[in-house]
Amino acid sequence: MCGIVGYIGEQQAYPILIKGLHRLEYRGYDSAGVSMIGSNGNLTVYKAKGKVNALEAICADKDVSGTIGIAHTRWATHGEPNEVNAHPHYSQSKNLALVHNGIIENYKTLRAEMENNNYTFCSDTDTEVLVQLVEYMQELHHCDLFTAVQNALKHVVGAYAIAILDRSNPDQLICARKGSPLIIGVGKDSNGRAEFYLGSDATPIIEYTDQVIYLKDEEVASMDRSGRLNITNLANVAQTPQMQTLEMNLEALEKGGYPHFMLKEIWEQPQALRTSIRGRLQVQDRDVLLSGIIDNRDKFVNARRIIICACGTSWHAALIGKYFIEEACHIPVEVEYASEFRYRNPVIYPDDVVIAVSQSGETADTLAAIQLAKQHGAFLYGVCNVIGSSIARATDSGTYIHVGPEIGVASTKAFTGQVVTLMLLGLAIAKEKKTLADDMFHMLVNELCLIPEKMQWTLENNKDIDSFAQMFTYCRNFIYLGRGYNYPVALEGALKLKEISYIHAEGYPAAEMKHGPIALVDEEMPVVVIAPKRGMYEKVVSNIQEIKSRKGKIISVVTEGDKVVRGMSDYSFVIPDTRDCFVPMLAVIPLQLLSYYVAVAKGRNVDQPRNLAKSVTVE
Ligand code: G6P
Repeated sequence: MCGIVGYIGEQQAYPILIKGLHRLEYRGYDSAGVSMIGSNGNLTVYKAKGKVNALEAICADKDVSGTIGIAHTRWATHGEPNEVNAHPHYSQSKNLALVHNGIIENYKTLRAEMENNNYTFCSDTDTEVLVQLVEYMQELHHCDLFTAVQNALKHVVGAYAIAILDRSNPDQLICARKGSPLIIGVGKDSNGRAEFYLGSDATPIIEYTDQVIYLKDEEVASMDRSGRLNITNLANVAQTPQMQTLEMNLEALEKGGYPHFMLKEIWEQPQALRTSIRGRLQVQDRDVLLSGIIDNRDKFVNARRIIICACGTSWHAALIGKYFIEEACHIPVEVEYASEFRYRNPVIYPDDVVIAVSQSGETADTLAAIQLAKQHGAFLYGVCNVIGSSIARATDSGTYIHVGPEIGVASTKAFTGQVVTLMLLGLAIAKEKKTLADDMFHMLVNELCLIPEKMQWTLENNKDIDSFAQMFTYCRNFIYLGRGYNYPVALEGALKLKEISYIHAEGYPAAEMKHGPIALVDEEMPVVVIAPKRGMYEKVVSNIQEIKSRKGKIISVVTEGDKVVRGMSDYSFVIPDTRDCFVPMLAVIPLQLLSYYVAVAKGRNVDQPRNLAKSVTVE
């Protein structure tokens, strides 16, 4: 949700800022803007509605010189996505420029107070209030910018990551955060001179330095060209920065020959899963080693209940995790939408384990949900992808899914990575609780090891989805059906299609169809049925009959060699046979490809679908 980039050093800031914005564009792309202080002392601000390319076009004939700058790519919350509401925002005197990610909840009250003090506003944003407030504090207390920022933030209710420039102090870059992520990169240019980078995540920084500091809530930082970094809390108490080394490579942030990140990430899944299970699944010893479980054995073995909080695709992965953990560990598991859980006074016991599943590790609702659980004394466990993210740091322990950076807004490899990690978690707990017979445990370990290979097979054997998808571009609705472990896959398939092609799609438990959705079925309605030759196969066959008698078009996901469902279907995608619980990791692949190719055929922007953002740091 909004991306922030910043730079101070001896290099020209503009190219660094623009490159950084491109890397952060997945966070929002309603507008983009940049601000620099030039050697002539001018504080310039350039903004454009739409994507970073539009900003570059505007800047093409402008003076963009300067060795200090901030930049922003916006996902609109307050105020429509236009140029006026784009960041950076000037203060009244135009001496300050500020970018912001988050939401200032009391902005209306603050704005009214400022208007009473003769401040006028140009935009509808909550952000403009912040920059005006900082300037007001400077004037009121005759203080320097750093103190003014500290004072201003004491009046603010809500979430923020900000970066701010002051025309009268071109040698200092100031930033602060609460609730929204902000990372400081500490580097040296090719001549060994100190420089600092800012990013909402590490992707704009990694090219220049792997030494980073994750700013903590209510910390304010100032950086200058001599390499001085000063971090305090809002009460001006000095904080000791903890330098960390990033583990990320630049190649992972490029498309690597694929037309879209989404397609690249779909094809990366076999390798991503190998990395997820490496060292954790020991096929020779037929064992599972998960340090997060070993170190916290008693918490899991004695857990009264597991609650999994998540949003979006991560919620679907959590639901698969629930089915598996209940089956393998005999622990009741509840899966909660984090946004509902946090506000509905849920019953949480100190002997509950609360697991947050989040690709970004920054989703505001998921973070708030675990903070609530912490207040009730529950043990917090994170299943995140982004290393060092807010959720990873806020939890007591956790397991990273390790699928590498996911850039496409529609989640693909993070989903399968989350599912496999929750399976590992279930197996590790079952081992400690001895709830699985040895031969069953060993068989599951052996089979899980084969999943990356079977994913590769699935990708190689469904290459015709490309041409097949063209036939469905005219459709206005889709239904997705699955039972048991494949019900969450139906939800995920439907979500993928609506996210990127804008076709309405509903996922349903196959047997629930007759309680409503069947009324929608006619010859125009494609119904995607996940029907592996396992578990409730016969029941699903009956559900397919019901749809066929209403002339619905059947698109099925079937096990290799299946003839019955294939014969009943208008189109089929094939997956290799595997245990029931592992089918989701294979069955989701053709559904990801289907949504991808339908969206491409409809000319949609697959990697940056409208109105969406990858990292939702506002509630
Ligand atoms: C957004 C993304 C989804 C993601 C959801 C939860 O809506 O577009 O792809 O599933 O947030 O994000 P998280 O990072 O917590 O998994």
